[in-house]
Amino acid sequence: MSGIEINSVLTENRLFEPSAEFVAKARLKPDDLKALKQRAEEDYEGFWADQAREHIDWQTPFTRTLDDSNAPHFKWFSDGRMNVSYNCIDRHLEKNADKTAIIFEGEPGDTRHISYQQLHDQVCQFANALRAKGVNKGDRVVIYMPMVPEAVIAMQACARIGAIHSVVFGGFSADSLRDRIDDARAVMLITADGGTRGGKTVDLKEAADKAMSKGCESIQNVIVLKRSAHDITMQEGRDHWWSDVVDGMDSHCEPEWVNAEDPLFLLYTSGSTGKPKGIQHSSAGYLLNAIVTNLWVFDLNDDDIFWCTADVGWITGHTYVAYGPLAAGSTIVMFEGAPVIPDAGRFWKMCEQHKVTIFYTAPTAIRALMKFGDEYPNRYDLSSIRLLGTVGEPINPEAWMWYHTVIGKERCPIVDTWWQTETGAHVLSPVPGVTVTKPGSCTFALPGMDVDIVNEEGESITEANTGGYLVIRKPWPSMVRTVWGDDQRYIDTYFPKFGGRYYLAGDSARRDEDGYFWIMGRIDDVLNVSGHRLGTMEIESALVSHKAVVEAAVVGRPHDVKGEAIVAFIICQNERPVGEEAEKMVAELRNWVGEQIGAIAKPDDIRFADGLPKTRSGKIMRRLLRTIAAGEEITSDISTLENEAVVAQLQGET
Ligand code: WTA
Repeated sequence: MSGIEINSVLTENRLFEPSAEFVAKARLKPDDLKALKQRAEEDYEGFWADQAREHIDWQTPFTRTLDDSNAPHFKWFSDGRMNVSYNCIDRHLEKNADKTAIIFEGEPGDTRHISYQQLHDQVCQFANALRAKGVNKGDRVVIYMPMVPEAVIAMQACARIGAIHSVVFGGFSADSLRDRIDDARAVMLITADGGTRGGKTVDLKEAADKAMSKGCESIQNVIVLKRSAHDITMQEGRDHWWSDVVDGMDSHCEPEWVNAEDPLFLLYTSGSTGKPKGIQHSSAGYLLNAIVTNLWVFDLNDDDIFWCTADVGWITGHTYVAYGPLAAGSTIVMFEGAPVIPDAGRFWKMCEQHKVTIFYTAPTAIRALMKFGDEYPNRYDLSSIRLLGTVGEPINPEAWMWYHTVIGKERCPIVDTWWQTETGAHVLSPVPGVTVTKPGSCTFALPGMDVDIVNEEGESITEANTGGYLVIRKPWPSMVRTVWGDDQRYIDTYFPKFGGRYYLAGDSARRDEDGYFWIMGRIDDVLNVSGHRLGTMEIESALVSHKAVVEAAVVGRPHDVKGEAIVAFIICQNERPVGEEAEKMVAELRNWVGEQIGAIAKPDDIRFADGLPKTRSGKIMRRLLRTIAAGEEITSDISTLENEAVVAQLQGET
């Protein structure tokens, strides 16, 4: 087989229909979804214009919907003016001023409830403080904070005055922070004296000081939130305590009415090569998809308590914590700590305590918690939960089934949402009151999203179960606008093929005989074994379906005869096997994969470790694993790894 077509070897035939009870109350019923899709097909721009008028409060209404005169730099609603913070907060005050906007819980168990009125006042005071420190519309502000309400307040305050925020995840190192500050030429840094995670203090201010000692000349002021009892140094003139800068500030702050296309934020993605890319998002288009996906996919209603466990340092924490659910007038839960402190029941305890109705997390978290057994979730009353979601990577059917039975008690639909930092919001996902789900599939495109799978020539692949490039054929409101300061990189990365007609997601995918989408992995991760092109995800899924395996990562290693040999890195349910036990296990797993998929997919080499090298956002570092599999020297920087010690194990040294 040549070109991009990828052999699919995995079959999953179980079907799950939403319960009659869920459907009865669902916002979108089958006919509603059909009508939305039909409208989008018949009049694409008209569809999005309707949505934008319905869901956004405009200060100046737009008259132009899509401007594609400078494609692929698309503009949406470009003569309209609005303000994102106004749409997230002010417009709810008339009816819902006392409604809880944020339920916060810290790792030690301290809780705080913040109403929409309080959120408004605190955002306004902080926005006034930013203005007082000379931050203007269009200036970049870097936010490097723990997962506390003030992180959302800082983001909303930037939005209120038209400043562009760039949130840097608190787990990033000083060097990563410096690179991001320097690339954006940020004038202000907002941080904290420390955060708590996993029982330890994260030294944010110290890292920030280190970053600023080696660059960051553009930074004029630093605002520091007091969050821990940590001793830090404050530099006179440059560093200010949060409590001091808001002291005496007015709790009214006139929003800056920005153009729909004015940037709301930058978010840097590491990518597999080269320097981080500053993904630039717009104001109105971004907010629109954030709102509609919260309504369509999370079925968000007035009385929901929505908990998305993502940190605000990631896109998921932007769209489904800081912006979308607030714009929809919902109540969100924010948690600062780690899911296993004090034990593996923490998430479930919090679901019970805060009466969470919608719970959204990553497959890696589900697998990690699944490993501790059913007894933890079974200790708590999870009956408030009505909908579950996943994001970030394909969920293997085993984890899906556990989520469905042990957490959802077979009552709750699961929305497996496929999207990217660059798409801004969900693209492929079930609509919970309508879609019949299949474990491991993100099912279908949402209304207004023109998604296809194409071959090397850009032609649609109609044959079932043949993988190809996942593309989006029409622009959509929340799409990435450019790479900050580098228009060419935007074009080269996202529109390199098919004459620049389609957005290239960089993932491979297939459709099954019923038209369901299945993500097969990143295009760069496809293995070529004796002329068969295999998606790494399918082999990983087969491995984790073995009862002894908790997590698996599969990569290729150059092979003289086969082209590539398959190397699997495994974390076991029990202790890491060594010696004879490891040999036995290797044989068993090879056979298992042979049975599940076929001999072609049997790993040539299997190694066991206590953990897999992951980025701070929980993504497996495949490039590093490929280096290890090939026995090459590691030259990339592994200091930002969540668990550096496992590298030696994977190399076979310990
Ligand atoms: C992967 C996270 C399979 C995919 C929102 C994508 C997924 C990348 C899914 C984007 C899913 C995300 N099923 N794969 N439901 N969701 N991915 O930018 O490879 O951190 O391209 O955005 O994660 O990761 P990012």
